Order: sequence, then structure tokens, then C-alpha cells
Amino acid sequence: MSKTIIVSNRLPLQIKLENDNSLKITPSVGGLATGMKSVHAEGNGIWVGWSGLTEEETDSFTKKKVNEAVKKEKCVAVSLNEQDVENFYFGFSNKTLWPLFHYFMEYTEFEKDQWESYQEVNQKFADVVLEHIEDGDNVWVHDYQLLLLPKLIKDKKPNTTIGFFLHIPYPSYEIFRTFPWREQLLEGMLGADLLGFHTYDYERHFLSSVKRILRLDVKFNKINYHDRVVTVDSFPMGIDYNKFHDAALTHTNQNPKEKSELQRRLDNHIQSTSNAKMVLSIDRLDYTKGIPNRLRAFEYFLNKYPQFKEKVRLIMLAVPSRSNVPQYQKLKRDTDELVGRINGEFATVSWTPIWYFYRSMPFENLIDLYTSSDIALITPVRDGMNLVAKEYVATRTNEDGVLILSEMAGASKEMNEALLINPNNFEEIADTLKQAIEMPTEEQSKRMKILQKRLKRYTVEKWADEFMKSLNATKIKDTVMVST
Ligand code: ADP
Ligand code: G6P
Repeated sequence: MSKTIIVSNRLPLQIKLENDNSLKITPSVGGLATGMKSVHAEGNGIWVGWSGLTEEETDSFTKKKVNEAVKKEKCVAVSLNEQDVENFYFGFSNKTLWPLFHYFMEYTEFEKDQWESYQEVNQKFADVVLEHIEDGDNVWVHDYQLLLLPKLIKDKKPNTTIGFFLHIPYPSYEIFRTFPWREQLLEGMLGADLLGFHTYDYERHFLSSVKRILRLDVKFNKINYHDRVVTVDSFPMGIDYNKFHDAALTHTNQNPKEKSELQRRLDNHIQSTSNAKMVLSIDRLDYTKGIPNRLRAFEYFLNKYPQFKEKVRLIMLAVPSRSNVPQYQKLKRDTDELVGRINGEFATVSWTPIWYFYRSMPFENLIDLYTSSDIALITPVRDGMNLVAKEYVATRTNEDGVLILSEMAGASKEMNEALLINPNNFEEIADTLKQAIEMPTEEQSKRMKILQKRLKRYTVEKWADEFMKSLNATKIKDTVMVST
């Protein structure tokens, strides 16, 4: 029976070594892992990716334990050494491609050594995938860390059907053209038979780069490439709606004794501040997420509308991410300082305006936060999709709550009933926050119902299904050839 091989840099589980040499296994954070996890659990395929440990950290005994642990989850580990992690992961993936594709030109480094490492590590992934491919298998490659992989597989196994999905924005041609190895990167991606993006705009930008850089023949969403046709399309990623909705329902009916420590604190807050509004934000601590802007806008709001002092609280969960990259370290310092300054300026004996958590939290605590918050304030300056916005909506089992969402997030394209804001416009964010706090429950419910209906219909399973259907359709070559 043929299978689908999922490939991404990270596996859905992350492994760390404890001091006593035992393995600590945690779920991976981020949209790709949380989204694909439910798709993978249902299928009969395997998932190829990096376990999070380096070769230097693992002796043969530990390596065996790692392989056993990942095998249980139908995964296969790709082995990376410290140099790979430094140059491929922290380096080229997160100091070049991530900032460039998110329009952070000033953060983007173009280092030849790192580019070479990116090529080598993509080859390491290809070698593991090639070991596991059997006739008739589909390969589904994910995200910016593996842009060269489709070609590396296609060159060795031309009959394999390959899909590729980019989980981050694809930038406009004017940005992409600055990239020194632009031809190789595009050719790497074109090894796929189907290329998927979250939004039509990203798809359009990609096609424009292909036309202008490679001068290929593009008709609508099809590219004539050597003797093949490559299809390009948009597939906005959904969430496992029932998982979040059902967890929220269980949470609401929870026995008080089962409540988490965090939920008890949240309940105390609600009682002690006579129902002050709770505003929530959850992100990886990443400069694309607009965290300093959000904090400054909140400060601006408290100054502009002082009547809300002691009546509103921002709960901000920032999950540690890529902390070896200097820009992330700076962001951490800036965030700590801003939170300290705002709390210092506005706090009273009974009220701290911002509760800030810098840590990863288990799923149950995410549900505590989603269900306890009246407003979600999600303000990325650039974001491929943003699943947190969708998860918040899915947990609102009483159809109440307000979502404030940046128009720079891919999710905004499907979430018109949210209050959409420009993350650089503090005035607008402050006014929208006031609007959200004062929004009558009937209006909240009207907006929530529509948002929920859409998310319930276009779940992550449906997203994966549609992608796979389109991928299988590329096998019927006669119907997709375009005339030149
Ligand atoms: P990104 O992919 O850039 O991190 P998204 O908003 O698309 O941003 O996805 C973030 C995902 O990470 C969400 O599915 C969210 O539930 C998950 N997540 C956030 N915080 C945690 C956490 N502490 N532990 C596990 N998953 C988390
Ligand atoms: C985003 C990216 C993923 C990545 C995740 C977490 O969701 O699209 O590819 O896995 O962030 O980042 P990390 O660097 O920890 O893998």
C-alpha cells in the first residue's frame, strides 16, 4: 500500500537530554507541527524530520533510544550535527530565509558558508527520504528550511509525486530578487508537482518571481518546467476545530477540584477585579509577531482611555523560540523592559496591567487562557497564517469574545468578522480595544458564529485532504499540460 511521507525540519515531538541521560520528550510548538500532527495521526505514512538533538549529544545507546521513541510516533529522525544546527538552522533558515520572507530586510544575512550548509542539510534530508520511498508513495515537504528538497528527490526519483507547502509568507518579487541564490532556490521548489501557499497573494508573488527570474512560461496557476507541469495553488490552513472546541467544553464543565493552578489564578483575578476584561496574546517570542508594538499600543490605550485603568488586563504568553539568534535575544530584552516599564508606570496596589509569561505551557493551560479571555489581541507585523487566532475562536463555546487581528496575518483573509487592525497604527489599536471592550454581547455572538462556522467547515483535515486531492490530480498529466 502506498503511503505519504511528510518531511519537515522539526518532528512533531522534540527530544532533549536530561542530566541523568534520560530523554525528555515534548510536543513541538508552532503552526506547522500543531497543524500537521492531527493529519499525521490519521494516516498510514511516516514523518521525517530532526529530533532536536545533535550527533554530538548522542552516543549509540541514546541514538537507539531516540530512534525507538520517534518510531513509536511513526517518525524517522534525520541526524544533524552541531555545525548543521548552527549554520543551517540558526543560520541560513533563521537569519536569512525567515527574516527575508517576512520583509525584515535589515535582519537578513547573506552568508555563503550558511548557504552551503543549507544545501548539505537539504541533501541529508533527501538521503533519509530516499531510503524510505517505495513506488507509488507521495512525498509532502514542508516549509522554508527545506526549499531545495523537492528537486533533490525529483532528480533521483522522477516518478515520485511531490507536494510542497510553505507555512510562512512568500514575499513580493522586489524582496525576493535581492536573494543571491534566487535561481537555485526557485529550481529547488519547482522539483515539486504541487506548490501550496496559505493565501492567494503569496501564490501570486511566487508566480511573479518564477516568471521574472526564471523566465518560465506561466499560465494561470500552472508552470511549464522542462518536461513537466507544476501546479501552484493556495490552501489556507485550518485547525483541528473539534479538539479545541471539545477541550473548551470539558473545561467549562470541569469540577472545581480539577482546576489547574493557572485557572485558579485567573478565577481569582476575575473575582478580585470585579470582572475586569482580560485581553490575551499568545505567540512564540518572534519579531514578526509585533510584540513591542502591541505593548506600546496597550500603553497608548491606557493613556488615551484612563477610565479603563484597573478594568482591563493584558495576559501575554510568549513561548521561547530560536534564542541563539541575536535578534531574538534583543527582542527578549526589549519585551522584558517594556513590560517592566508599563507595569511600573500604571500598576496600583490591586492591579498589574500586564501578566507576562515567558515559557511554554501545556495544552490544558492554553485552553485555560483561551476560555478565560474576553478579547484576543493578535498583532503580527507579518505572519504566514496565525493559528492562535483560529484556536481562540474555536474555544469560545458560548459564542462570546472578540478577536482583534492584524491585517498582516494570512488568517485575516478568512476572518473578516474579526476586528482587523494595522499593527503599526497605535491609535487604531487603542480605539479598537475600546470598541472590543464595549462591544454588546449580541454583536460578539453574531461575529463569533460566522467565524466558527467557517473554521468548523475548513478544518486542518479538510486542508490536508484538499492538498492531497490536488497532488493526486497532478498525476493525470494529460489534463494539466498547458500549451506553450
Ligand atoms: P507560528 O507558527 O509562527 O508559531 P501560529 O500562531 O500559526 O504561529 O502557531 C502557533 C501554534 O503553536 C499554535 O497552534 C499554538 O497552539 C501552539 N502553541 C503556542 N504556545 C504553545 C505552547 N506553549 N505549547 C504548545 N503549543 C503552543
Ligand atoms: C513556524 C515555522 C515552522 C517552525 C515553527 C517553530 O511555525 O513555520 O517551520 O517549526 O515556527 O519554530 P522552530 O524554529 O522552533 O522550529
